Amino acid sequence: MQSPNCYRASPNETRALSGFLPNRAKFMIHSRFGSYIICSHFRERSRESLINNDHVKFLSAFVRKPILTGAIAPSSRWLGRRMTENMGLERAETVVELGPGTGPFTRAILEVINRKALFLAVEINPEFASKLTAQFPQVVVINDSAEKLEQYLAQYQRAKADSILCGLPWAGFPRDLQDRLLSAVLKSLRPGGKFATFAYCHGLLLPPGQRFRRLLKDNFARVETTRVVWRNMPPAFVYRCER
Ligand SMILES: C[S@@+](CC[C@H](N)C(=O)[O-])C[C@H]1O[C@@H](n2cnc3c(N)ncnc32)[C@H](O)[C@@H]1O
Repeated sequence: MQSPNCYRASPNETRALSGFLPNRAKFMIHSRFGSYIICSHFRERSRESLINNDHVKFLSAFVRKPILTGAIAPSSRWLGRRMTENMGLERAETVVELGPGTGPFTRAILEVINRKALFLAVEINPEFASKLTAQFPQVVVINDSAEKLEQYLAQYQRAKADSILCGLPWAGFPRDLQDRLLSAVLKSLRPGGKFATFAYCHGLLLPPGQRFRRLLKDNFARVETTRVVWRNMPPAFVYRCER
């Protein structure tokens, strides 16, 4: 059954992939001697194209580190556009993205920012960071925790950022990590600067999601909640905040 269209996945990946099919691909799953084979129905899909697919990379990161990754799939371009609306990105001199993952918001940000702006992206997952570095040479990609944002801004001779866009999975984080990350954001954003972060609708039903919403309201001068982006899996909305 091995052919260029086949990719041998771990049992965890197989289980997860069978419920989530990227790019209209269809898979047959076979179990032989305890191992699993995922086989594309599309003969032209090579093993490389499957492995390079952002959805597969993301899912595989989620299986390995679910809390840190916080989602089974990258955000949609529609959520990316909602993230960048009314953020003053056209005029910003220093733009930061936290938790870019495979880059759906990075791409949306690059469509609107000033070419002269410094764009720092801080991603903790080394595999995502190296993919972003290769894909977006105009972005300064830092492979570290967003908790150290202030230090990296100083390294690039910037005291504060004008806009921070954030893809961190806040609702899955424990209280102390939420506090440390928000403190790094507040210290790094100039007065009047804008902060955007997204949340899944279902996350609002859970205590960490509710706590995070209160944290935003307590720490920003203005917090706006956008309309839900239904063309995202799962549906999500954006908190747009002003310092
Ligand atoms: C829910 S994913 C969002 C990825 C992407 N922005 C998107 O919307 O598809 C969260 C991302 O945050 C990254 N991340 C988690 N904790 C982080 C931290 N402390 N510092 C920087 N990145 C972090 C994860 O590796 C992951 O790429």
